[in-house]
Amino acid sequence: MAVPWSTMKFWKPGTEGPGLSLNEEREATAEVGGSIVYNPHASLSIEKQRQKLPVFKHRNYILYLLENYQTVVIVGETGCGKSTQIPQYLLEAGWAAEGKVVGVTQPRRVAAVSVAGRVAEERGALLGHEVGYTIRFDDCSDAHATRIKFLTDGMLVREMMADPLLKKYSVLMLDEAHERTLYTDIAIGLLKKIQKKRGDLRLIVASATLDAEQFRDFFNLNESGNPSKDTCGILTVEGRTFPVDVFYTMSPVPDYVKATVETVMKIHEAEGDGDVLAFLTGQEEVERVVSMLVEQSRALSCSGMKKHLRALPMYAGLPYSEQMKVFERVPHTVRKVVVATNIAETSITINGVVFVIDCGFVKLRAYNPKTAIESLVVAPVSQASASQRAGRGGRNRAGKCYRLYTEEDFEKLPPSTVPEMQRTNLAPVILQLKALGIDNVLRFSFLSPPPAQSMVQALELLLALGGLDEHGRLTEPLGMRMAEFPLIPMFAKMLLESGSFGCSEEIVTIAAMMQIQNVFVSPPSQKKPAARKHRKFAVAEGDHLTMLNVYEAFVKNRRSSQWCQEHFLNYKGLQRAAAVREQLWRLLSKFRVPKKSSEGDPEVILRCIVSGFFANAARLHHSGAYRTLRDDHELHIHPTSVLYAEKPPKWVVYNEVMQTSRYFLRDVSAIESSWLVELAPHFYRRGTHSSGSKRTKVV
Ligand code: CDP
Ligand code: MG
Repeated sequence: MAVPWSTMKFWKPGTEGPGLSLNEEREATAEVGGSIVYNPHASLSIEKQRQKLPVFKHRNYILYLLENYQTVVIVGETGCGKSTQIPQYLLEAGWAAEGKVVGVTQPRRVAAVSVAGRVAEERGALLGHEVGYTIRFDDCSDAHATRIKFLTDGMLVREMMADPLLKKYSVLMLDEAHERTLYTDIAIGLLKKIQKKRGDLRLIVASATLDAEQFRDFFNLNESGNPSKDTCGILTVEGRTFPVDVFYTMSPVPDYVKATVETVMKIHEAEGDGDVLAFLTGQEEVERVVSMLVEQSRALSCSGMKKHLRALPMYAGLPYSEQMKVFERVPHTVRKVVVATNIAETSITINGVVFVIDCGFVKLRAYNPKTAIESLVVAPVSQASASQRAGRGGRNRAGKCYRLYTEEDFEKLPPSTVPEMQRTNLAPVILQLKALGIDNVLRFSFLSPPPAQSMVQALELLLALGGLDEHGRLTEPLGMRMAEFPLIPMFAKMLLESGSFGCSEEIVTIAAMMQIQNVFVSPPSQKKPAARKHRKFAVAEGDHLTMLNVYEAFVKNRRSSQWCQEHFLNYKGLQRAAAVREQLWRLLSKFRVPKKSSEGDPEVILRCIVSGFFANAARLHHSGAYRTLRDDHELHIHPTSVLYAEKPPKWVVYNEVMQTSRYFLRDVSAIESSWLVELAPHFYRRGTHSSGSKRTKVV
């Protein structure tokens, strides 16, 4: 069934009167080339294309600044050539001579890989030689040959453990610094420290949307008051390669998932060539939109429409090869629609994308220092995010961005997203800093200091996990290993201890399954048969053991996609779990964690989970809801949990909290309260819990 089009109206600010529907609005864009303009650079040689980019005009000035300042902040519009060009200018100017390396950090894995691929291509080099990348679990660089290395900011922090002064790098470019991920901020603080010891290390901070002055003030080491001695300079690059026209809806959109589908279909009907990139908040929404588009396009091909629609999902929980599919070119007879979470928001160029649809929301981590609850919450995007999203269009030719919110609402959005450092559980940060020899984490030079209370809570948690001793020092070997482990400390502890609990085989599977979401698939038309199949895996102990059952059955059935389909299970998700599981095993064998099975005893597995996740414990309240042990905060079991429709257990631990109108628990298991006192004696003293201001009775 086709969507009724008449309901969606867009408006382009600066044009005559409101009321534009998509067809009319094509006229409004005539001045920027309403009929599609093909990439005028496509036939140019790579060298000529590079010279056309706005950043090229500033090439010499960038090199001049770098000779004269230790840090240079570069702000330039999306698509002007920051990520792909600046590293090459540095290489060409000799910054990577004598075995030195130009490092470029990206907040996301997919960005590091795709930008590295593009730069290698521009240089006619094989990826992994002169140009390479290093991301978690995947190193495609050569210790001797690589001159330009793209890496995630998390990897850079890891490299500092082995090489605290990062001696092999002559220049480090912190790209997309506006994202302010946890690791970008850790790297920023550490690099400032390193610069004081290594006057020759140059830093470039780059983004399209950041507060340049804030960064300059932070990195300027000049204390003399004489501006000629400043160690940090700012450069603004004007102009972009191609324009992007932005359209807003005329009135607020009640359901952005439906509106996304509707807008895609309108574009498909009304516009000429050009692929679409739509932003949603999470895997569930992405999959919903993809399946709605598949249905719509089926109806269209029956109606004889020549151009086909191909919808491709893109989110972090997809197997890597699936994520990379969005970059593949499609035949002229196909319009590609990439439906993505914000992993596609910065840095990347998806060739062919002309139209961007921005739902206006994003899923973010939030931490409440009062309740010590870390949760995921869907929140409005910031103006910086909206501008990055729009910037994914207009990279190979003029683009259009449809914002599924009004211009008035856009004006009300916060200018930038709150840095992750200020809205997260800080235990991983503290662990990393301690491992890097920073003893007094409270005095660390943070670009945006986190709340002191969050720091204290994180220290308490690490003490209880056994990663820190009473003097706040990293313990040997547990604390050191936890710091080295590429998962949050609670997971790390659970995995590292699983050998001594005698259930490492099961715990590795559970940890891998927790890295993916929505293993159970429930197509709207087949909800009942799907639920019947899913019940076969469910156990009263909760989600962790249910997931273990699913994975074991998947393996027993030779990892067959057919079997997954019959049982309404997410095949791609299970494939990814299998890959993650393998990687986790490799790490555990490095730390000599013995391979052991619980031989069907659920209690040891649950106890092992508690040894890592005791801080996420809740008890059943007589109201029927759960209450956290730390702060008596009300929580509810998420409808996707196997415990949702069951008799609620008295005590539970959980992995994740989702915040909507209420706080929902995901990945929940039933436990015994006595395990908490036994396995986390520092945290839960018998009788009371002393963390925070309230004292909660445990047993
Ligand atoms: O980092 P910034 O947003 O400033 O731009 P970039 O990633 O360096 O890309 C500059 C330009 O190179 C884009 O606008 C595209 O025209 C082109 N490009 C491309 O065609 N294909 C890629 N994979 C990457 C970049
Ligand atoms: Mg970029």
